[in-house]
Amino acid sequence: MADKTLNVICICGSLRRGSYNRMVMNALPGLAPANLKLTEAPPFADFPLYNADVQDKGIPPAVLTLAEAVRAADGVIFNSPEYNFSMPGGLKNAIDWVSRVPNQPFAGKPVALQSAANGTLGGGRMQYDLRRSMIFLDAMTLNKPEILSAIARKRSMPRPARSPISRRSASSSSSSKPLPSSSSASAASTEQRAE
Ligand SMILES: Cc1cc2nc3c(=O)[nH]c(=O)nc-3n(C[C@H](O)[C@H](O)[C@H](O)COP(=O)(O)O)c2cc1C
Repeated sequence: MADKTLNVICICGSLRRGSYNRMVMNALPGLAPANLKLTEAPPFADFPLYNADVQDKGIPPAVLTLAEAVRAADGVIFNSPEYNFSMPGGLKNAIDWVSRVPNQPFAGKPVALQSAANGTLGGGRMQYDLRRSMIFLDAMTLNKPEILSAIARKRSMPRPARSPISRRSASSSSSSKPLPSSSSASAASTEQRAE
């Protein structure tokens, strides 16, 4: 069991180019054990706003793609900023859509939450709201460790090098390398959004 490769998809709650959460997400493969394969989830940026009338005409294919990626994964890692003390609207919209797919795929799914935000609480309030949504969807959300990166803008600034060793480690940071996408459909948007 310890040797089994675990396929985990990462969902970035920020859509902006240069997102700090995307930087954190892209740094994860360098920190993960060898048997953890991390890929970026298919994109949700173009989902329509959730509307039951739209759903009645058929769940959009992009929603089904994300839902099936969640279903197929051994786990999900969210990396998201906090917007107005909660989760970004685009991310909530994506979760609302995926939750309407029959046999909704978050049920029983191991889920980890991570956040980076410019506030001093590092997105903690977003995590409480995201956790509540995951509770409703019967996900198995990890309690610990709590991963919060506060004052992200300051942390992302390059620090003045104090020695040749710190200069070398700064330039070899893995945060600029985008995560592979879990579908070819999302590859283009990943490259487009990654800094
Ligand atoms: C609409 C909006 C609301 C925000 N609300 C919060 C907030 O409640 N708490 C916080 O710490 N930062 C807040 N911020 C600042 C974000 O933490 C900051 O923009 C962060 O860089 C977003 O993450 P990203 O870099 O991954 O896009 C807000 C930003 C926006 C655009």
